[in-house]
Amino acid sequence: MTAQTAPEANAGDTPALLAVNNIEVIYDRVILVLKGVSLLVPKGRIVALLGANGAGKTTTLKAISNLLRAERGDVTKGSIEFGGVRVDRLTPSELVRRGVIQVMEGRHCFAHLTIEENLLTGAFTRRAGRRELAEALERVYHYFPRIKERRKSVSGYTSGGEQQMTAIGRALMAQPSMILLDEPSMGLAPQIVDEIFGIVRDLNQREGVSFLLAEQNTNIALKFADFGYILESGRVVMDGPAAELATNEDVKEFYLGISGAGRKSFRDSKFYRRRKRWLA
Ligand SMILES: Nc1ncnc2c1ncn2[C@@H]1O[C@H](COP(=O)(O)OP(=O)(O)OP(=O)(O)O)[C@@H](O)[C@H]1O
Ligand SMILES: [Mg+2]
Repeated sequence: MTAQTAPEANAGDTPALLAVNNIEVIYDRVILVLKGVSLLVPKGRIVALLGANGAGKTTTLKAISNLLRAERGDVTKGSIEFGGVRVDRLTPSELVRRGVIQVMEGRHCFAHLTIEENLLTGAFTRRAGRRELAEALERVYHYFPRIKERRKSVSGYTSGGEQQMTAIGRALMAQPSMILLDEPSMGLAPQIVDEIFGIVRDLNQREGVSFLLAEQNTNIALKFADFGYILESGRVVMDGPAAELATNEDVKEFYLGISGAGRKSFRDSKFYRRRKRWLA
């Protein structure tokens, strides 16, 4: 485990499905947010993108799914490849057709539609017949029995956990081979977070869907991911197999709030980190 090495040295025992090569992202033509980020997601793996508030996780995911332009953001350096082909100039819907879809931070269900109607909106890039749609819905309900029960409920009145499940289910309707999942744990009770991550693992193992997972919740992400990258201020500062990161002393101290000297609060470690940077 090292600070950023050449991308081919990372995560790499199987060929990369997704390769992000040294990208730089600028918002509003002047605000430099990503300062040369590289990462790999091998086929069939779950890779976690970790880091504190504002580190650049969402920006990285949006750079991959081509959603940055809507935010006046631009990839100004580097390249992004999916399945060995450059995809950084495609539209988001072209990318969905090739198998990459993003589940946005904050869930974003259509509040006035039912759960099932929300799911059906996820199939818009496919020209699916009725039967195909019914099969796709059944597949989603198989993984998310909780939303099957609630399928006729208006999404705006369902719980945060159900909305997160609906958002992931809607992405599945496009039959992706890779899901970019932004902060699925946000604002949810630990038990629901566990349930959702369990389903992510199932989808990964049974359907072979690869995941790039942005999370502030380092603890849960490292429990379910194969490999992790830690972002700080738009740079990858550490990467390695999830099990190694979870036992690394710096990660424990700064991201898991645990250290040899006992438990540290996030505020302490934030302060400490600032001090450390200052000294560096
Ligand atoms: N549309 C935008 N215009 C200008 N700056 C932006 C924009 N979106 C994000 N930023 C800035 O880019 C940096 C990275 O933000 P980003 O949302 O990628 O972080 P994040 O790691 O996803 O954080 P969080 O965990 O809070 O979701 C932040 O400093 C943020 O203020
Ligand atoms: Mg974010």
